[in-house]
Amino acid sequence: MLRQPPTREQLRRALALVEGEVRWREPLAPLTSLQVGGPADVLVIPADVEDVIRVIRGAHVNHIPLMVLGGTNVIIRDKGVRGMVMQLKHLTHIQEEADHLVYAQAGVRLPRLMQFALGRKLSGMEWAAGIPGTVGGGVVMNAGTRLGEMKDVLQAVDFITANGKRKRIEATMLTFLYRKTTLPKGIVVGAWLKLRAAAKATIQSATKQYLQYRKATQPLTLPNAGSVFKNPIGDSAGRLIEAAGLKGLRMGDAEVSTKHANFIVNRGTATADDVLTVVRTVQAGVAKKFGVRLQLEWKVIGER
Ligand code: EPU
Repeated sequence: MLRQPPTREQLRRALALVEGEVRWREPLAPLTSLQVGGPADVLVIPADVEDVIRVIRGAHVNHIPLMVLGGTNVIIRDKGVRGMVMQLKHLTHIQEEADHLVYAQAGVRLPRLMQFALGRKLSGMEWAAGIPGTVGGGVVMNAGTRLGEMKDVLQAVDFITANGKRKRIEATMLTFLYRKTTLPKGIVVGAWLKLRAAAKATIQSATKQYLQYRKATQPLTLPNAGSVFKNPIGDSAGRLIEAAGLKGLRMGDAEVSTKHANFIVNRGTATADDVLTVVRTVQAGVAKKFGVRLQLEWKVIGER
């Protein structure tokens, strides 16, 4: 059954108690690293965690769809998103709570977390070098590279349930898959990360080496949303796409990167439709040549 999109009045009611910013018909493309996609009915930027709870309760009681936008591993369709989109950019608190235990709110960017850890001579986050996402997004998708993943350092999650109750979920209660953490319905507002002491120079050199590798192999200077597809077990999506002759495939301004075939870059004015056409063409090409169905690593959201 198709649900009717919420009316402005319903959205207003749901947001009545919220103290943070509320922006109507807000374009979302500028909030994503790929820079494509349409507007949200309403974008909410809560002032703090209490405000996040007000948003969640308002959405819950009024039956309004609500999603959090991190912005780096996602593609928003051109017609945009019905209901509420929430951005956690004011949740940027970070502290070392106990020896080697760091608490970071969901809106903290991974590069900032890495700087913080380096400043305190804490190792464990080097795998994230060059990932532009947030702590919240990283927890939800169990972000990682071949050097490590979020689950290696995650001790517990600061979580708000779908009906607005705050609770701490120990990592031992969660299941971590490849690029997915199985969380209950609700929103991550922070994470406790267990790091370990190390010499500053050791952390710096691991980070530098890794950043150099990424710079040399990935198209980091053009808008992109990171790896497009998950790597199939025992193989790599980039290798398969290149071997299928699809490097450089272009639709409008969306292009399979000539530097790394598992990236799609926006060469200027790509639309979500262009990008998704490239995605489907690549999937079909690889399936035809190798019989492998590539699975998207990105989340695709919004109205068709
Ligand atoms: N390859 C090709 N052609 C290409 C690209 C890659 O043949 O155009 C080959 C490479 O030669 C290599 C293999 O594919 O033998 C793997 O490539 P790479 O080392 O670049 O790593 P990846 O598996 O494509 C993963 C992560 C990246 C992460 C890098 C480096 C996934 C899906 N992606 O990429 O993560 O930066 O390792 O650690 O696991 C992300 O998830 O958004 C992301 C960027």
